[in-house]
Amino acid sequence: MEVTFKIFRYNPEKDERGNYVTYKIDAHPNDRVLDVLEHIKGKEDGSLSFRRSCAHGICGSDAMRINGRNMLACKTLIRDVGDHITVEPLLGLKVAKDLIVDMEPFFENYRKMLPYLINDSPLPEDGKERLQSPEQRARFDETTKCILCAACTTACPSFWANDEYYGPAALMTAHRFIFDSRDEGAEARLEILSETNGAVRCHTAYNCTEACPRGIHITQAIGELKLAMVTGNID
Ligand code: SF4
Ligand code: FES
Repeated sequence: MEVTFKIFRYNPEKDERGNYVTYKIDAHPNDRVLDVLEHIKGKEDGSLSFRRSCAHGICGSDAMRINGRNMLACKTLIRDVGDHITVEPLLGLKVAKDLIVDMEPFFENYRKMLPYLINDSPLPEDGKERLQSPEQRARFDETTKCILCAACTTACPSFWANDEYYGPAALMTAHRFIFDSRDEGAEARLEILSETNGAVRCHTAYNCTEACPRGIHITQAIGELKLAMVTGNID
């Protein structure tokens, strides 16, 4: 089938502003958007810039707007998005070139959440491990699935309105550790979440949940964080 790709192009060294370039490509309905981008880069225009690494929905590097929705190019089939496809960079982060955005502000917010296990207590006598029951592990299982693709944060109207908001992805990182029974840093993280640009900026628009390629119930998890902030209960 012939597919028309309209791709946002911007080279800060040459262009004052971005523009759209159209490519007509012969593709198979089961091709992924990433396959077509690779084809364009390899055969038609080597200057086209986009991020990708694993090509299998694991690394989170190829989130972009496909027909107006945040998606991973490697997980999006042509047959699911039609034969006229517009591809644009994520909203709310500065475009570095074409489909590549500057992820540094995103990762800065991630680092604010102390994204590592905090536990200074001595290890149990018998051992080498801090044991956890299956139920305790299940409590934060969902938020361990985050691949830091930024699809949620850059789909969030609160983040568009105020890019100082830490954003849903950072909140998911906080959730992953706060509800981990082995961790002792919940108090510090809940304090960070209580800051002006923390969880209070979430107005439950649900855009994040819709955008997440890992199917994480982000809005619900943010609700759990808000409750923990009020009650101090992290069970
Ligand atoms: Fe991506 Fe989902 Fe993680 Fe947000 S929560 S960064 S959408 S994987
Ligand atoms: Fe790794 Fe798509 S290239 S998630």
